[in-house]
Amino acid sequence: MDLKSLVRDIPDFPKPGILFRDITTLLRDPEGLRYTIDFLAQKCNESGITADYVIGIESRGFIFGSPLAYKLGTGFIPVRKKGKLPAAVHSIEYELEYGMDCLEVHQDGLHQGSRVLIVDDLIATGGTASATAKLVQKIGCELVGFGFIIELRDLQGRKYLPDVPIISLIEY
Ligand code: PRP
Ligand code: ADE
Repeated sequence: MDLKSLVRDIPDFPKPGILFRDITTLLRDPEGLRYTIDFLAQKCNESGITADYVIGIESRGFIFGSPLAYKLGTGFIPVRKKGKLPAAVHSIEYELEYGMDCLEVHQDGLHQGSRVLIVDDLIATGGTASATAKLVQKIGCELVGFGFIIELRDLQGRKYLPDVPIISLIEY
């Protein structure tokens, strides 16, 4: 299936000069959605990834991470932006294009030795995925891979990620 044809390009969103890759058009397509999750799961299995948990990064990572966890038979753990999780958290600050941001995960969600697969809709600069990797590694988890629907190759985000399998389904 031509997944790329289901992604809509929106110029100058959220600011001038950014070509936004909009996945809502893929999500509303029943066959496209099913194929995306099945294909991602297949690629994870082919890469030899075995995880205890899929970690989804807020917010678009939740959309794909949760059905992937269902399909792989793992649990799902949300990594959220600051102040959203109700129980005690581990946090990590990371640099954005302008300023800093913070990601958090529940302290009782992950443990030393948990095998985790990090999932997001898209990798651009790699800042978000790299910070999430540092957060789970700080806890002592075993990072077993990354899964993205879209990879913006020009930005070379994968260069900033640890040396584990990195799966992406659509490249620009
Ligand atoms: C987007 C996207 C990734 C991140 C990728 O999320 O969903 O999480 O940016 O960019 P990077 O590789 O340069 O870090 P965004 O922060 O826009 O949040 P959202 O998912 O809530 O829209
Ligand atoms: N997140 C970061 N860059 C993006 C882009 N170009 N399109 C959609 N989401 C993004």
